[in-house]
Amino acid sequence: MDTPQQWLSERHEHDVECQRALRELGRLPRHVAIIMDGNGRWAYARRLPRVAGHQEGIESVRDIVKASAELGIEYLTLYAFSTENWKRPQTEVNALMRLLEHYLRAEVEELHCNNVRINAIGKITALPKRVQKILTYAIERTVNNRGLVLTLALSYSGRWDILRAVQMIALDVRRGTLSPEDITPEKFSSYLSTHTLPEPDLLIRTSGELRVSNFLLWEIAYAELYSTETLWPDFRRQEFYRALAEYARRERRFGMTSDQVRNDVQDISFRRSFERLFELFTAHR
Ligand code: FPP
Repeated sequence: MDTPQQWLSERHEHDVECQRALRELGRLPRHVAIIMDGNGRWAYARRLPRVAGHQEGIESVRDIVKASAELGIEYLTLYAFSTENWKRPQTEVNALMRLLEHYLRAEVEELHCNNVRINAIGKITALPKRVQKILTYAIERTVNNRGLVLTLALSYSGRWDILRAVQMIALDVRRGTLSPEDITPEKFSSYLSTHTLPEPDLLIRTSGELRVSNFLLWEIAYAELYSTETLWPDFRRQEFYRALAEYARRERRFGMTSDQVRNDVQDISFRRSFERLFELFTAHR
């Protein structure tokens, strides 16, 4: 096995500059969630089997995880396999499970060495035993890390999680440990499988589709949405930086008025950092 690499030691100068400019904007999201879509279309366009798209998609996963950790983003949540994905042809489901197992096996030491904590949400017991085993190992191996929290949504859907929470709440009410009037939004959130994560600030979807596809339905109530035509296997850090820059420019009002929220988007120093970032983006083309 290769010796795990410290990511920060191997970066390109242009990339260091981009990350510095992004940080200078002072508005990086704490939690980014991604619907990784378009692997099949990427493969189709190249007359390759669909699995080749998923394979190349793993390269994007690697790059986005690294870039997130380097930038100091606290939480990254990836929709890797939905409850509905079980309906795909068995050969594709098997291939996705194998890829997931290989990814975890190959990456766990490097992720650990870079202080990433691995987490999973979804019906993990529905996954093949081999995947459950390596996933449990990866979670335990990285449990004390304090860097990026990488959450893989596996056999997950937002409705599945909400129903599960409702069932647990009903049980607690029946047992007498919870009163119906104490079920506040915060209380409800504490029953979801995402209860250890803050709500996503930014939800990215690749491949141009404008749907949330049953992902984090409760949690994305105030998330900023970003959609790009780029297919997931082509979505690498430069495109990620654009999404982060776009997020930085948005004004998040959480139902309030523009005057009530701090609005430094027009500040001269913010505008300068933003212009610098776009020069860097253009230079990279
Ligand atoms: C959607 O593309 C993608 C998926 C259903 C799976 C995503 C999985 C990976 C990127 C690889 C494994 C993940 C990890 C975290 C190691 P699609 O097949 O629906 O594409 P299409 O809409 O073009 O057909």
